[in-house]
Formats: sequence, structure tokens, C-alpha cells
Amino acid sequence: MRGWPDRWPYPAGSGGVSAPTAMVATTDRYASDVGVAALRAGGSAVDAAIAVSFALAVVNPEAGNLGGGGLLLVRTAEGEVASLDFRSRAPLSATRDMFVGPGGVATDRSLHGHLAAAVPGSVQGMWEAHSRFGILPWAALVEPAVGLAMGFVIGKRFLRSLIAPIVDELRRFPSSATVFLPGGRVPGAGETLRQPELAATLAGIRDAGPDGFYRGATADRIVDEMRRGGGLIAHEDLASYEAVWRDPLTISYRGHTIITMPPPSSGGVVLAQTSHLLDPFSLSALDWQGAEHIHLMAEAWKRAFADRNQRLGDPDFVHLPTEELTSPEHGELRGRGISRERATPSGEIVALKGGGREGNHTTHFSIVGPDGDAVAVTTTLNTWYGSKLVVEGTGVLLNNDMDDFTIASGLPNYFGLIQGEANAIEPGKRMLSAMTPTIVLGDERPDGPLLIVLGSAGGPRIITTIFQVLSSVLDHGMDLATAISAPRFHHQHLPDEIAHEPNGLRAGVGERLRSMGHQVVAKEEAWGDVHAIGVNEHGVLRGVSDPRRGGVAVGF
Ligand code: GLY
Repeated sequence: MRGWPDRWPYPAGSGGVSAPTAMVATTDRYASDVGVAALRAGGSAVDAAIAVSFALAVVNPEAGNLGGGGLLLVRTAEGEVASLDFRSRAPLSATRDMFVGPGGVATDRSLHGHLAAAVPGSVQGMWEAHSRFGILPWAALVEPAVGLAMGFVIGKRFLRSLIAPIVDELRRFPSSATVFLPGGRVPGAGETLRQPELAATLAGIRDAGPDGFYRGATADRIVDEMRRGGGLIAHEDLASYEAVWRDPLTISYRGHTIITMPPPSSGGVVLAQTSHLLDPFSLSALDWQGAEHIHLMAEAWKRAFADRNQRLGDPDFVHLPTEELTSPEHGELRGRGISRERATPSGEIVALKGGGREGNHTTHFSIVGPDGDAVAVTTTLNTWYGSKLVVEGTGVLLNNDMDDFTIASGLPNYFGLIQGEANAIEPGKRMLSAMTPTIVLGDERPDGPLLIVLGSAGGPRIITTIFQVLSSVLDHGMDLATAISAPRFHHQHLPDEIAHEPNGLRAGVGERLRSMGHQVVAKEEAWGDVHAIGVNEHGVLRGVSDPRRGGVAVGF
């Protein structure tokens, strides 16, 4: 493949499953099968998404969840679009500086243990999605997860998630070690993981809907757990949680329509801004992943993330400049300083410092139903295994989404993001997210043909991953599987560096980028975990899972 680095491990066009009627692309065979079963039983694409989501809470516990939140984007075959925000929320007793220690230093309590956990939104989100788009009975969609929680055979992805530092952190909480380290050890491939307490919790949700989680015995156990460990989630937090339908963002790019998430996701805003910033540049005429191509993307991301980090937050709490930031005029204004030859230092855009870690946390799945409805869902506990805390007696692993807030002015969060006042902690507020479930149409008409359904894991790198996959397809005419296999680059304003995946840079490109004034940093691990579905001109569906971590697309 022209432009592929010599030592890049993933072949062009790798992966992918074709089918004529319907497709479910997730991280996991069990989850994809559960989704397909729901579709075959006459369920809607949203029904399948609900069944998949509960199944992933069992078999992909590092990111699938009951104790976290997520975002769902749907487009029906008739052209109706809707996005559901079931992002977790700060507890009502949360305070702005709750993670700032003596001397203004950030503590690690936004990442580990009770205080890190925000009020989970996943169960209410699935209920809300079902109320609007469901066909099959709720119980039938939760039931497969109950069965999986009684025992499923452990696969490679689960084992790869149990890396030493995570195992050490899980051991800090006996309730977590009991679930994920049965007998005190990391289970082996082919063994069966049994989660009877999670099965009982799921059975309660199956029978009582969200009341099986937000009220009654499970809620009591969550609140007791918080009291024991100094966490903040109270009965009132759980009982008052609401998922919110929001109007999706729509972007025109190269003759296509991109439908994506509005705030509190920053994904859609950054995607829109990046598209507008790069609109004047003919990317298709550039050497794909040559220095000028990477330089221009980095310059666009740098500007878009500067705005994102300072100006975005929960639209229910802060007046957001979404319309301004997503307008072509703002892109034109922001883009005036972009030089084709020289990097603009991030300090000249906004002067702050940062430093981040890598991560593929979060999970995404894409579904196209037999009637042509499309659903893209990204859910998260934030980092792998979230707070690492399983609520005793429930099997429910809680998120550490609180770290996605601006934990203290000028200090980076886990992902190295230095964020602003708009994303400061407030009681009941949602923290800014990068989750970017996205649907692309084949032309600019709102009722245009479905082209791609996609999303990814990866913290802020989700957004740059999605842009690169889409740009490779829409600007460079690449097939979807090749675009997903291709090396990725990232810039988030601060730190002021172009990050690239190991062995992802072609010979000579790094030197040229440095001569333009960029810092270029090879990261230790590949990132992103895209699960996508493409539709070709004959209406054939192709499900593609990212080769970096694998996954299973199942169609019929
Ligand atoms: N927790 C990662 C995100 O939502 O951006």
C-alpha cells in the first residue's frame, strides 16, 4: 500500500465481514451475537444496541458497564436523527475543588476509589432509548446479559485488559478482586468467569427497569458502599438521574453529511471545527500521511482542541458557543494563522502546559438493522475498570468519570487535557467527553444514503481517530478497513506535540515535521478501537473491527 510505513504491523484492508441485510460490530463475539439475535427476533437497531450494551457490561467489563455512562446516536431509515446523552453526572454534593489537595496539588482521588465515581447513566440511558425506539420487550434485551453474567468463557481481550497495574489496583478493593481475580489470581484463557452478583443485579433491572438500579436494593448497596469509602453518590443522586435527548450536530464535508454528538461531548464540535479548518486545503491532492498532510491536520487539531479545552462543558450548566465554534466562519477565522510551512506554537494559541498518558479506554459499537436504521453507541467507565471499585453485593463496577472534569485550574487530567472553567465540577453537572459516535451519509441531503457508522475508544484521541478514518475515506478514497488499519496521529493543543503510534511514521516524515517546528513523539502503544459499518453502492454492509485490539462483526 502506497504511503504505508515499512514496519507498520497492520496490513491495508485487513478485517471486515460483509452481509446484505444487517450488521453488528462490537468488541466481542458474545455481544455481537446478542445484538444479531435481537435483530433476528424482529428488534430494532436500538433494541440490538440495548442488548449489546448490557452484554458488554458483563463480557467487556473494563469499559462496557452498568456503572458508567455513554452516548447513543441513531438515524432511522426514514432520516430521523436523535442523540441520547446518558453521560454520568457529578453527585449533588460534589464541589469544585474536591480533588485539590494541600498546596493546590491534584490528588489521585479523581481516578481511584469511591470519590472518583460519578452518578452512572447507562441503565437509564438504555431505558430511555427503549422507550423511544424499542420494539422487543425490555426484559428480552436484558436477559442475555443475565445469562452471560452467570458464566462466560474468558477471551483474549479481557485477559489483555488485566495488566499488572490494573490488577494491583483491583486488589485494593476486595469486592473487585473477588469478581475479576477469582481465587486471588488472574484467570486464564478458556476459563469461565462467573459474576452471580452482577447476574442478580441485571435480573433486577430486567424485571423492574431502571428502578432495579436507581432505587431499591442495588441503590441501597451503592449508597452504603459510598458511605463506607467516603464517596458522594446518595439516593437522591440515583433517583434523580435523567438521560437527555439532544439535537445531533450535522457537518457538511466534501459533499457528505456527518451526523455526530453535540456537547457534553466535545467530539462533534472538534470534528466540525477540524473539517472547517481543513476545508480550504485540498487534502486529496497531498501525499497521504506525508509531512504536509500530518502538519495540516495537527495545525487544525491544535486550534480546535484549544477551543474545546477552554470553552466546552455541560450545555445544561454553561452557555456554550457551540454554534460559533461549529460555523464555517469560525473555521475560516481560526484557520487564518495556519501556515503550510511552519508549526504555530500552541503557546501562541493559548499559553498553558500539559502532559498526558495513553489509553484505549471506553468501548464503541455500531449497528445497522434490516430496515436500514443505524445506531452508534460509545460507553465508558473512563479509564479501564474505571474507579476499580465494585460495589459490594452488586457486581457493579463504578466509573472514574469525575477525572474528565477540570479537576483544578491549570492541571492536566489523566489524558493530559488542561481544561477550563466551563468544565469545572458542579453538583449534578456532566463532565466534558470526547466520545464521538458518528454516522455519515453518502451526500449532503438529510435523507441521503447511509455510508458509514463508526466510533472509537481512546479518550481525546477518539476525535482525531474519527477524523482520520473519515478523511482517509472521504478525501483520499480509501476503503473503510484500510482507513481503520492506517497509522494514527494526534495533537490536542497541549502538550504541544504530534503524537504518533509506534512504527506509524514513514521514513523522513518525522525529520521534515521537526524542521517545520513540530515536536514529534512516538507513543509506546497504538490507540483507538474503531468498530464501524460501511455501506457500499449496492447496499452491502461491511462490518470492520479495528485490528489494534480486535473485535467481531456479525451480519446476516
Ligand atoms: N472518558 C473519556 C471521555 O469521555 O472522553
